[in-house]
Amino acid sequence: MKIIEIEGSKKLNGTIRISGAKNATVALIPAAILTDEEATICNIPEITDTEALCDILRLLNVKVNRSTESVVINPQEMINTEITEPFSKKLRASYYFMGALLGKYKKAVMYFPGGCSIGARPIDLHLKGFEALGATVKSENNKYIVEAEELKGANIYLDIASVGATINIMLAAVRAKGVTTIDNAAKEPEIVNVATFLNNMGAKITGAGTSTIKIVGVDHLHKCFHEVIPDRIEAGTYIIIGALCGTPLKIDNVIPEHLDSLLSKLEEMGINLEIGADYVTVLDSTTKLKATNIKTAVYPGFPTDLQQPFTVLLTQAHGKSKVTETIWENRFMHIPYLKDLGADIEVKNQTATVLGPKELKGCEVVATDLRAGAAMVAAGLIAEGKTTIANAEHILRGYEQIVEKLSSVGAKIKIKEI
Ligand code: EPZ
Repeated sequence: MKIIEIEGSKKLNGTIRISGAKNATVALIPAAILTDEEATICNIPEITDTEALCDILRLLNVKVNRSTESVVINPQEMINTEITEPFSKKLRASYYFMGALLGKYKKAVMYFPGGCSIGARPIDLHLKGFEALGATVKSENNKYIVEAEELKGANIYLDIASVGATINIMLAAVRAKGVTTIDNAAKEPEIVNVATFLNNMGAKITGAGTSTIKIVGVDHLHKCFHEVIPDRIEAGTYIIIGALCGTPLKIDNVIPEHLDSLLSKLEEMGINLEIGADYVTVLDSTTKLKATNIKTAVYPGFPTDLQQPFTVLLTQAHGKSKVTETIWENRFMHIPYLKDLGADIEVKNQTATVLGPKELKGCEVVATDLRAGAAMVAAGLIAEGKTTIANAEHILRGYEQIVEKLSSVGAKIKIKEI
C-alpha cells in the first residue's frame, strides 16, 4: 500500500502547472481504436488510469507507443478479444471499450468496469443506447456481450445527462449507418474534447457541449493528431488548495471558463483571485472566508468531483455552510476523516452541514476514493502536525505527480510504499 505523509501548516507559493484531463484521456484512448490508421494524442497525464487503458490496448494487440505526455496508438493489427475482469475492473473508463469495439467490430465482450465506490454506478443508459442502435446485450456473471448485425442511427433520449453514456453512445454511433441524435446529452468539456478528436479522424459530430448531439455515421476514420484539454478538476483542486494556504499560488495551463461555478463560489467566499486567459492565481489565503452553500450538478453546475476538496475549504469558513451532493449516493466518505482531523460536520441524507472555522490537527486518515483522497491532501496541508493518508493509490489514479507538484511550491509531502 502507498501512503502519503504531510507536515501541514506550510504556506504554498509559486506555480503549479495543470496536466491533461483524466476524464477526457480515459475516453480518448479507447476512442483511438476506431481509426483504421494511427492516432497520436498529446498532453496525456501520467496517471495510473492511463496505464490501465494502455494495458487493455495491448491485450487487444494494439500498438502503443508511449512517451512523455503523448501516446501513439496504432490499431492496424488489432484483435477483438474479450476484455477480462482483471483488466476491466481496474477503472471505470474501461467501459468506453464497449462503445468503441461495438462501433468498430459490431461486437464487444467485456466485464463490468471498476472505479471509485461512490455510488451504485449502473450502466443501463449505455446499454439502452447500444440497443437503440440495433445491438443486443447479454449479461451473465458480470460479463457483457454486446453485438449487432448492423448498427443503425437512432434518436436516443438519455433519462439522465450521463457523461459516460453520452460518450459511449457517440463511440458506437460514429461508424453506424445513418444519423444518431442524443438528446439530454451531457455537456461536460471532456465530451467536446472527445467529439473533436473523432471529428479530427473524419467523424461527423455536431452539437457536442449542448444537450443535443447529432452524429452522421461514416464508414472510415483516418489518422489524426489530437491534444487533451487541461484537467479542470485537477486545476480546481489546486485552486482550492491555493485558497487554503497559497501566498500567492498560480495555477497555470487552465481554461478558466471550465471552472466558472467554482471561481464564482470562491469569489463569493471573499477569496481574491486573478483570472487570466490560461491561469488562475489565488492572491491571498489569509482573508476571512465567508460560509456558503454548494449543490453539485451536471456541467456547468458545481462539479461533484470538486465537492470533496471544497468541503475542506468550508471547514475554514466563518459560519454554517451546506454541501448537497446530487450526482453520487456515496460521496461523503471523506467526512468521517475530516471529523477526525477536527472538522465540525454533520451529514443528513445527501447534505453535509459544515460549521467553521475549525483548526485541523494531523492524524491518520484514508483515501477512500480519488477525490476523497484529494480532500485529505488539502486537509493535511493546513492541519497542524503530521497527516498520514493510507490507500494513496486512489489519488495517483487521477493526479499526475501530485507529490512533486506540491513539493515544488513549498509543501512538506512525501509518498512511500509500506
Ligand atoms: C464521469 O463518470 C466521471 N468519470 C466522474 O468522475 C464524474 O463524477 C461523473 O462523470 C459526473 O461528472 C469519468 O469520466 C471516467 P455519469 P460517469 O454517467 O460517466 C447515473 C472522478 O472523480 N447513471 O455522468 O460514470 C449515475 O449512477 C470521477 O474523476 C445511471 O443511472 O458518470 C450517476 O448518479 C468519479 N445509469 C449519474 O447518472 C447509467 O447508465 C451521473 O453519472 C449511467 C449513469
